[in-house]
Amino acid sequence: MSEGRGALPWESDTHEQPVETRDNDGAGGISESSAHEWALLKGRIHRRLLEKLNLATLEKTDRATVVEAIRRVVHELLSSEKVPLNFDEREDLVTQILDEIFGLGPLEPLMKDPEVSDILVNTWNQVFIERHGKIEETDIQFQDERHLLQVIDRIVSAVGRRIDDSSPMVDARLPDGSRVNAIIRPLAIDGAHLSIRKFKRDAFSGEDLVELDTMTNPMLQLLSGIVKARINVLISGGTGSGKTTLLNALSAYIPASERIVTIEDSAELQLRQPHVVRLETRTPNIEGEGAVPSRALVINALRMRPDRIIVGEVRGAEAVDMLQAMNTGHDGSLTTLHANSPRDALARLETMVSMANLNLPERAIRHQVASAIQVVIQVARLSDGTRKIAQISEITGMEGDVITMQEIFTFERTGIGEEGKVVGQFLATGIRPKFTDRLLAYGVGLPATLFDNVADNRGRR
Ligand SMILES: Nc1ncnc2c1ncn2[C@@H]1O[C@H](COP(=O)(O)OP(=O)(O)O)[C@@H](O)[C@H]1O
Ligand SMILES: [Mg+2]
Repeated sequence: MSEGRGALPWESDTHEQPVETRDNDGAGGISESSAHEWALLKGRIHRRLLEKLNLATLEKTDRATVVEAIRRVVHELLSSEKVPLNFDEREDLVTQILDEIFGLGPLEPLMKDPEVSDILVNTWNQVFIERHGKIEETDIQFQDERHLLQVIDRIVSAVGRRIDDSSPMVDARLPDGSRVNAIIRPLAIDGAHLSIRKFKRDAFSGEDLVELDTMTNPMLQLLSGIVKARINVLISGGTGSGKTTLLNALSAYIPASERIVTIEDSAELQLRQPHVVRLETRTPNIEGEGAVPSRALVINALRMRPDRIIVGEVRGAEAVDMLQAMNTGHDGSLTTLHANSPRDALARLETMVSMANLNLPERAIRHQVASAIQVVIQVARLSDGTRKIAQISEITGMEGDVITMQEIFTFERTGIGEEGKVVGQFLATGIRPKFTDRLLAYGVGLPATLFDNVADNRGRR
């Protein structure tokens, strides 16, 4: 078989034997040999399709017409093969071939599955996904490393980037908003890796988070009031604990009249307000040039007359400018930070400020932190994969050299139930926050009982 182009990804075998029997739909979970036969058939049909249809000339035709043409030809080709496929199987084959031509090949069903949030390809023969907060292995495979590289190449070239020996890693965003990272040999020792964090179309709302038992209704009432009253909030938690999700949910309580500027390393937030400016940092290119760090964007944002600044995640020197902004009238700021407790979060902020090398005395930095941030929300991913608001803490000031805080709500773990489920309850500590006056000034009235440490508040949803 001599052709003017390279073999198709799944063609490791060039024998042209018609497939006589198949015992499954080829969509996974099938026996090794029939999976192999299916791959051969798919490869053969795909190749013959390309011989018949010149896809390049079809490029200007609209997608629906091309898809229809491909579907027709594949059905024709299948009738000329002596393959007993029923209609569903034929359609499966059409879909898989279309996925290879236009989509991400074997990953396409995962891209379309709304329950899958992350796709992690650990070399061509091992694909993990995250679903409902848990990582699981799939039986999806690429034909070989070359096949995976083709898909990676398609992704990065579609966004005007390239990946090869001289530039073996790429970070990019797909047209649908999903984030993609690819890293290949020689940097990835065992072969190409691809990580996709899918863009979530239907972000969780505050009510969803109550439904998911991430917090109680009284906690949501409090948090939405805090946002409306322009109280500066820091959301703290580990990786994947739900910080961005909570930030996004809380952002919905910002009044529509406000001008919001968001600054993110990779745009994830989905604000529904009409007046939003979205800024995204840029990493340096392979020559180490062209970087635009968060700090530069925070400084720029301040010149854009924002009512609110939302920094997706503070990681470094931008903390200085953010705190300064919070302390000089830009209140109502929201941000997240990677830390294991509210106290740890404040310590990290201090470290970040000192990283900016302004030679400020430690005490001055601490003072700046204490006066800028009023509320720390600690989120946690528990052993059963659920996310909880572990603490809502108020910063009340300083005593000597120590920042003083008080807990308003906490989650108290009482044990482990069936199937490893974490059992526990949310508790109001009984402390009325100092910022209640401010809530009132913004017209946020909360029932006085909301803060009561009574049985009624325990585990209430
Ligand atoms: N309260 C929640 N309940 C269930 N899943 C959640 C919750 N919050 C977030 N997730 C899921 O956890 C993953 C990580 O969430 P994300 O907000 O990006 O975490 P972080 O910003 O802390 O790294 C996402 O897939 C998200 O859908
Ligand atoms: Mg995040």
